[in-house]
Amino acid sequence: MSASERPDASPWWASAVFYQVYPRSFADGNDDGIGDLIGVRAKLPYLKALGIDALWLSPFYVSPLADGGYDVADPCDVDPMFGTLADFDAMLADAHELGIRVTVDIVPNHFSDQHRWFQAALAATPGSPERARFIFRDGCGPNGDQPPNNWPSIFGGPAWHRVASTGPDDPGQWYLHIFAPEQPDLDWTNPEVPAEFERILRFWLDRGVDGFRIDVTHGIAKPEGLPDMDPALIEQLAKHEHGSLMTAGKDLRFDNDGVHEYHRMFRRVLDSYPGERMAVGEAWVPDHERLARYVRPDELNLTFNFELLEAKWDDVEFHEAITRSMAALADVGAPCTWVLANHDVDRVVSRYGGGALGLARARAAALVTLSLPGAVYVYNGDELGLSNVGLPDWALQDPTWERSEHKDRGRDGERVPLPWSGTARPYGFGSDPQATWLPQPEGWGLFTAEAEDADPTSTLWLYRRALAMRAATPALLGSSFEWLDAPEGALAYRRGDIAVVMNAGPVDVPLPAGEVLLSSGPLAAGWGTPAGAGVAGGGSSLPTDTVAWIRTA
Ligand code: GLC
Ligand code: CA
Repeated sequence: MSASERPDASPWWASAVFYQVYPRSFADGNDDGIGDLIGVRAKLPYLKALGIDALWLSPFYVSPLADGGYDVADPCDVDPMFGTLADFDAMLADAHELGIRVTVDIVPNHFSDQHRWFQAALAATPGSPERARFIFRDGCGPNGDQPPNNWPSIFGGPAWHRVASTGPDDPGQWYLHIFAPEQPDLDWTNPEVPAEFERILRFWLDRGVDGFRIDVTHGIAKPEGLPDMDPALIEQLAKHEHGSLMTAGKDLRFDNDGVHEYHRMFRRVLDSYPGERMAVGEAWVPDHERLARYVRPDELNLTFNFELLEAKWDDVEFHEAITRSMAALADVGAPCTWVLANHDVDRVVSRYGGGALGLARARAAALVTLSLPGAVYVYNGDELGLSNVGLPDWALQDPTWERSEHKDRGRDGERVPLPWSGTARPYGFGSDPQATWLPQPEGWGLFTAEAEDADPTSTLWLYRRALAMRAATPALLGSSFEWLDAPEGALAYRRGDIAVVMNAGPVDVPLPAGEVLLSSGPLAAGWGTPAGAGVAGGGSSLPTDTVAWIRTA
């Protein structure tokens, strides 16, 4: 739909459905067991049929893959494992041809330790301009052999790594890495750093990308003087669920006011290009009023509302997360950005209880996010209803596993290569079942895109129907929203003439009068036509763990 056809002439991204491709795991185009850009290009017709508006590609840049590509050694080139710049251009051209926008990841908090800048910094001496692009400090203690402060790495262990001495007066400095040691943090107060990122943004914008997802955008400004953290918070972080960077209290390393100046630079660059280029921020900021600052009119266009991702499958938690997210961003006039999963958190089916129960709830939750006002992100494989995979120790690759001394298994379970076809591994992800970069499970034959395409009650068809209906229903694309009264355990809201009812309680709840357009599972009165479409709502009721969209009179 063009801007003029959209209900309120808002930009495309304000109500877009984005699909996150984790390139290593999405589709393998050259049969080496690793996903790549040729694979993405080959699956564009699948994505078109799914009905998404835009892609977000996680990093495919030159990288030693110490953190799955979020350790970028050359942000302006494609890693040979993923293909070439020509493959990227061909994929982008085909996507645009199909009307699919393409956004890519920008990782501004750190580079890979293999980046030429960091290699030059290691070769240079303390106080040099090469070291000033990163956060090098002298250590504490008599020989400088204690880290400069008590910060822990998000992946476990200390956030400082000591480098070799460069001469008799240099005992060996330490550099900061909030994530893995292979991801040295950049110093954004050094003007060379924002200038380099402006160059990187322009490189991709010039190639034609429609926007960016900005990694850890709440972390790029460090607190003045790098003060110690509260030890109690450090203890709390050690127990933290992997992936989520949200803390209840204030983690002084994140959400410092300095970040906003850098966001204004990003926005200035985006707005200097035609065609509504955009940026979405990955900002784990629990305080809503502070999160709203990320999407002020001259800053990022969108910022993920992670509160819903963190909510349990529960009507009260959903109600609070939705209300608070909407209220916060309404003040700055920015749309919400709903997301239930990404490559950092357990898959929705697993978080909501696993198995048939988790799947029913994940399908239901998808009909919630897809009917809320704002933009929505879908993580690859969620449209197939995939669960996390329990992987053997030997297969684990996430740095979290080693750095947490084998306490946290990390994020590989949600990154297993997608099943496309057939009944046995590798399910059309290349042809060698031993070659996939993470082992696939038995039993995924029922969850392949091919099998689900043939089954009108599948999760794939639920997503296709929901996306098609959303695109064709102005009320769902606009901003009008109103809570409706709902029985205990349930949640109900109205978007124009569409009512949405979610039942997270233990008993069936009555549905409002009207036509059931879509339901996430069978209604008490049965499925009706495929996936519940066209069932008369009056008189029927909504079972536990089900969501329905109803056109009211
Ligand atoms: C973000 C990414 C995550 C990565 C981290 C460090 O949180 O989503 O995958 O490990 O940043 O770049
Ligand atoms: Ca490949």
